[in-house]
Amino acid sequence: MVSTDPNILSIFKVIVIVSCFTLVHFMKPGTFYALPQSPQLFKQMLMVSGFDKYYQIARCFRDEDLRADRQPEFTQLDMELAFTPLEDMLSLNEDLIRKVFLDIKGVELPNPFPRLTYAEAMNRYGSDRPDTRFDLELKDVSDIFSDSSFKVFTDALNNGGIIKVLCIPSGAKAFSNTALKKGDIVSEAIKSGAKGLPFLKIQEDGQFEGVPALTSSLDPAKEELFLKRCEAGSGDLILFVVGPTSSVNKTLDRLRLYVANMLGLVDHSKHSILWVTDFPMFEWNDSEQRLEALHHPFTAPNPKDMNDLASARALAYDMVYNGVEIGGGSLRIYRRDVQQKVLEIVAISLEQAEAKFGYLLEALDMGAPPHGGIAYGLDRLVMLLSGSSSIRDVIALPKTTTAQCALTRSPSEVDPQQLRDLSYRLQ
Ligand SMILES: *[C@@H]1O[C@H](CO)[C@@H](O)[C@H](O)[C@H]1NC(C)=O
Ligand SMILES: *[C@@H]1O[C@H](CO)[C@@H](O)[C@H](O)[C@H]1NC(C)=O
Repeated sequence: MVSTDPNILSIFKVIVIVSCFTLVHFMKPGTFYALPQSPQLFKQMLMVSGFDKYYQIARCFRDEDLRADRQPEFTQLDMELAFTPLEDMLSLNEDLIRKVFLDIKGVELPNPFPRLTYAEAMNRYGSDRPDTRFDLELKDVSDIFSDSSFKVFTDALNNGGIIKVLCIPSGAKAFSNTALKKGDIVSEAIKSGAKGLPFLKIQEDGQFEGVPALTSSLDPAKEELFLKRCEAGSGDLILFVVGPTSSVNKTLDRLRLYVANMLGLVDHSKHSILWVTDFPMFEWNDSEQRLEALHHPFTAPNPKDMNDLASARALAYDMVYNGVEIGGGSLRIYRRDVQQKVLEIVAISLEQAEAKFGYLLEALDMGAPPHGGIAYGLDRLVMLLSGSSSIRDVIALPKTTTAQCALTRSPSEVDPQQLRDLSYRLQ
């Protein structure tokens, strides 16, 4: 589909097509071929073995919930390069994607692509893949309401939470008070974890309308600060989301998209492309009570953050187009000692590491070059380039939302004999 600039691809030494999935071993009953981390580790080992630039088209199978932009089978465009610093990695990929958009859509993307750090993206948009075709930036107003008498606010702040707002220009008329108390917008907020949706309207004469406990928290000085922070004026609507930081950001991300779609604020002639960088290495998994890798445990930590590895930033980057992640990658760990420390933090013991990825650790011992890469979701990219709203529109014989193939009706039951052939017994 892509007429790729030969100058871009000629730097790569190998183009291989691979597949990755879990397979029952026919010859050795009870064993399986399984690939836990896409083709990641193989690419890294190729770097160690001297293929310093590598490009592959990987057919991937993934067992996860389906959405409009996800399928259990997809095709990944994958590259890995040795001795390529982060800046070169980003600019090479910008050149590639600029070329693709120009050839296919006649669209000139910016040079260079804008960048947001993860922290900035979360603060301003509540999301690590913000759609910047419209503004609606979020503002943290916790400080302004620190001594508010509104119990909902003080409770949240006393529990270490935050108060953030979404200001909707001219929103006061667009949403009736009834809608703001029990309409779809409230359900959106509740579905994504909020307990309620306090709001404040600024009337044409500048007066505030809202819960008295909220509006009375603002003396004239605070009122001025608040309006300035929110860049709000008469006719605007301000929505408040309060609670723990991560859930506040999640709710506001969802509300921001909901409001933009509902009020037609998305400029469809715009192309929002950007990098999100500086992801945290780890995130806390509450149900497991442990840290887990945000990308994967082979991602390199920022060398400046090595003193506190558990809260380090990663040398990772995602390319985001119109609010959809189209590619993601990182520089990788190329030293065994660092790799072991990272595995320890995600609670993989040395023995487990040896058993699972011993071949990688051994390769790192051989003197691995610094390396890194990126992978694009090809189907998702094609979906966006063709202006389709579902990935099913660009895949031949896609799976339904219940992961069924509507044509062959698979997955389906198999013949007992087929299972016996594979020495496979169902529980
Ligand atoms: C959410 O945003 C706030 C500030 O706006 C920030 O302090 C916090 O770290 C963000 N939460 C997450 C999980 O990124
Ligand atoms: C926590 O870990 C479990 C088990 O690996 C996983 O199923 C779950 O999705 C994780 N939760 C979060 C919030 O990432």
